[in-house]
Amino acid sequence: MIISEIIAKKRDGEKLIREEIDFILQGYLSGAIPDYQMSAFLMAIFIRGMDLEETENLTWSMMNSGKILDLGFIPGIKVDKHSTGGVGDKVSLILAPLVASCGVPVPMVSGRGLGHTGGTLDKLESIPGFRTSLSLSEFIDNLKKSGVSIMGQTEEISSADGKIYALRDVTGTVNSIPLITASILSKKLTSGTDALVFDVKCGNGAFMKSREDAQNLASNLIRISGKAGRKCMVLITDMNEPLGNSTGNSLEVIESVETLKGNGPEDLLEVTLSLGSCMLILGGVVSSLSDGKELLLKKIENREGLNKFRQMVSQQGGDPRIVEDYSLFPKTNYQKELKSEKDGYISFIDTKAIGLAAVELGAGRVKLDSTVDLDVGITIKKKVGDQVKKDEVLVRLLANDYDKCKKAEERIKNGFRITKKKVKKIKKVLFIMDEKGVKKFIFN
Ligand code: URA
Repeated sequence: MIISEIIAKKRDGEKLIREEIDFILQGYLSGAIPDYQMSAFLMAIFIRGMDLEETENLTWSMMNSGKILDLGFIPGIKVDKHSTGGVGDKVSLILAPLVASCGVPVPMVSGRGLGHTGGTLDKLESIPGFRTSLSLSEFIDNLKKSGVSIMGQTEEISSADGKIYALRDVTGTVNSIPLITASILSKKLTSGTDALVFDVKCGNGAFMKSREDAQNLASNLIRISGKAGRKCMVLITDMNEPLGNSTGNSLEVIESVETLKGNGPEDLLEVTLSLGSCMLILGGVVSSLSDGKELLLKKIENREGLNKFRQMVSQQGGDPRIVEDYSLFPKTNYQKELKSEKDGYISFIDTKAIGLAAVELGAGRVKLDSTVDLDVGITIKKKVGDQVKKDEVLVRLLANDYDKCKKAEERIKNGFRITKKKVKKIKKVLFIMDEKGVKKFIFN
């Protein structure tokens, strides 16, 4: 087979067969196919798309690029959760320990920041000492000891996604339904999990802007998970404003810890409890969403979720004292506030612009070898529906570099719309999907 011919075939909109996809994947992993050819191939998929069979083949091919864990010897139904990516989405940091504290083991394989969205691994690595690059035996030992372990793609597991994910991040090939489907599932199906909960984000800060695209992505995730023998549930959630009040790695760790202490913002709690309840149902610990919510709230109140977070941090080499002492995170050099120019109500937030501003500050990557500044970020002081007065602060930028701060400011300066009329707050959980179809999400 000749790589340039396979690229041209996809460029011309033809369907690829399994052998061609395997050939490219294996060649890329062995180093025989360079980044520039893989980038062209990804762009051809981005533009031309893939049908379900091709997407499935891409998933299997990527999944088989590393080991597939069998965690059958660990008691309990193991459940993992994944988000398709948003701004300020720190839910995994809260949910993994919280659900584990309810008795459901959570083996989580996560990713780094992608495009304008943040990633669980970068956030966790902002905790001094925290390691996400674990050997499989460390991953399994942690899970046995505490019921929770979070790792990234390594040479051993999901190596194809590790390499391709990093390349997509810097080549404008992120928001493609087949590429996202294969990326998520090839990671998640290797971790030994029995069931999966997906948070498919939809809105101006998500990769899926419309409900129709979000639903198409959700259908792919459901159908391929089913073929792989995993039960799954999908929540479609709104991403027309950042989730919670912060974006940026260490800032999001602090907000997650505050949520586990019972001080989380309402929207972040709504999404966390909703996804968590689905995980508890799939884990066989509760039989209704409302029972799930009640149990999760109890674990926040009695601090068992927080204690599990502390245990997870220690077992992955992180400094657990950050739970009590946020001054252990390095301080940034500059702060810049953006203020409202008039009185009114916030009617729109350009969420992608906020994500890109965080990347400008250094919280994400612009090139394959960019280093991430783990302590910069943005705190969001006003959300959609909030009343605002002239000169009140809308966002605060926390920066380490004056020029980057200026660029970030440029990105956001037109990012808020303010109207005279009252505006409703955004409800975050839109609906729920499983193999039986779409339903309203309700807690009783
Ligand atoms: N999350 C992933 O793991 N991969 C994607 O491509 C997008 C979100």
